[in-house]
Amino acid sequence: MRSHYCGLIGQAEVGQRVTLCGWADARRDHGGVVFVDLRDHEGIVQIVADPDNDQVFKVASKVGYEDCLRVIGTVRVRSNINEKIPTGHYEVVAESIELLNAARDLPFALHENPNEEMRLKYRYLDLRRPEMQKLMRTRIKLVQALRRWLDARGFQDIETPILTKATPEGARDYLVPSRVHAGQFYALPQSPQLFKQLLMIAGFDRYYQIARCFRDEDLRADRQPEFTQLDMEFAFVEERDVQDTVEAMIREVFREVGGIELADPFPRMTWHEAMRCYGSDKPDLRIESELVDVADAVKHIEFKVFSDPANDPDGRVAALRVPGGADLSRKQLDGYAAHAAKFGAKGLVWLKYGHDGMITSSALKHLSGDEGGESVASRLIVAAQMAQGDLIFIGAGKWTTVSTFMGALRLKVAQDRGLVSQSWKPLWVTDFPMFEYDETEQRYVALHHPFTAPKVDDAEALGADPAHAVSRGYDMVLNGAEIGGGSIRIHRPEMQSAVFRLLGIGEAEARAKFGFLLDALKMGAPPHGGIAFGIDRLAMLIGGTEAIRDVIAFPKTTSAQDLMTDAPSPIDARQLAELHVQVMQRTGPGG
Ligand code: AMO
Repeated sequence: MRSHYCGLIGQAEVGQRVTLCGWADARRDHGGVVFVDLRDHEGIVQIVADPDNDQVFKVASKVGYEDCLRVIGTVRVRSNINEKIPTGHYEVVAESIELLNAARDLPFALHENPNEEMRLKYRYLDLRRPEMQKLMRTRIKLVQALRRWLDARGFQDIETPILTKATPEGARDYLVPSRVHAGQFYALPQSPQLFKQLLMIAGFDRYYQIARCFRDEDLRADRQPEFTQLDMEFAFVEERDVQDTVEAMIREVFREVGGIELADPFPRMTWHEAMRCYGSDKPDLRIESELVDVADAVKHIEFKVFSDPANDPDGRVAALRVPGGADLSRKQLDGYAAHAAKFGAKGLVWLKYGHDGMITSSALKHLSGDEGGESVASRLIVAAQMAQGDLIFIGAGKWTTVSTFMGALRLKVAQDRGLVSQSWKPLWVTDFPMFEYDETEQRYVALHHPFTAPKVDDAEALGADPAHAVSRGYDMVLNGAEIGGGSIRIHRPEMQSAVFRLLGIGEAEARAKFGFLLDALKMGAPPHGGIAFGIDRLAMLIGGTEAIRDVIAFPKTTSAQDLMTDAPSPIDARQLAELHVQVMQRTGPGG
């Protein structure tokens, strides 16, 4: 049907007769000559319709925006060169133009910036836009490069089930009712975690899969209900074996696909250090500022908001210095306090060290008192290394809460004030806590997942102090995004049972949910570990977009809907009956 791609027409084709297919990107009528920009997957080339070719001229004069065309013509060098497009030195003089299909009632022009809803509803048009074509191709190249790297190193690409049993990764499951087993359900995998562990027990040694995962959780700019992981597992490894291998892979793939040079080696940081310095388990190291502990400056003051946490081993009083921040207005300061509140702050104190040396603060009366001849405020200025013209925010309370909201503030301030450098900052975060206490459920939950091994290799020692147990989990972080997470796994049944017990999963429940794993661990399971990378997030970073939807061909909205197909949608009574499902009450858009 065609001989060449529009976007690849070049010197070699001059004088040749070519057949091109594509869409009319633009039409220009220039005093008797009609020009059509024909666009395909490779780019654009100019088509010339001369009036002396009657058939061609007639069709060209009526070509509409985004009409689908087939053009036969001869390539020649252009007299008015267009340096903006790669084919800008050439044009195709048409001898025939065939309208393959007209484009009618387009909801938006591809050159416009359509709104998000329209883009998702008419995704096929949105994807026609060159920006989207470019992003999708980055993703394709990324997956190709990863596969090439892994295949060359003997990783085995093995598929695992989609209709399966729930594997807890911390989100709700998407469930599929079984027709043949009334009242029973499959779960879509939140990740292939248990299957990949079983593959190690089965002796496959090194596994990978580009795996679709499903998680019913609150969606954000970098989260989708179904997303893709590069899932990997290795037998007979310790942390560094996994980390060094995948670090080399990520470095090579970023260079190949994005021309991006990442540090060698990546810096490493414990979870505790990341929280202490950056208030985040995925610190954005493009921002220089760090949180500073100022408890010593406020330990003995009467202001209990500060002195109580300063004297509490689980408390924290932390400052964030904003260089030049003394200029911040009252309204801006209130805005930052509101932002911190969203992340758990009960209050936020600010202190300004003016250009004239004046100290002002939202808690001045509590901070101006003398402490051994020195005002508390002056001590804070020294502790936070403030210069005249700076401001500090001070947060006080429980250690993790303060770290978290001060970390969120650090990000916001840096974004607002242009303090995020244009650079690539990868790192490893290690030594995560094994468990987190869930106040609502009044029990421990796994910070990573329940199959991650603790650092202590002794179930009794683990049970004695679960609150302080450290796991063998690790995350790879890039520019403040968690791009990969993994761990060394538990490979002995006793330890796995002990962890289930600590998580409040009783013997019977453990058997019912994970009996197959516990059995397998009894049959010579090798020490093993692995990691999974978020392919969508990697593509976002390399492609330079902030929205995960831009790198997924057919994504969902933040309320997990597909606006194009209208999924999810109600199903009819007959199908429900077949599945033995009764709908209690229809709420939401399908109702
Ligand atoms: P984890 O839950 O950390 O680990 O997921 C691994 C990586 O997947 C990406 N990711 C997501 N991307 C888009 N949308 C989502 N909703 C979403 N959730 C996670 C992140 C994350 O780092 N089984 C373990 C891996 C292991 O232990 O080997 C797991 O799934 O980039």
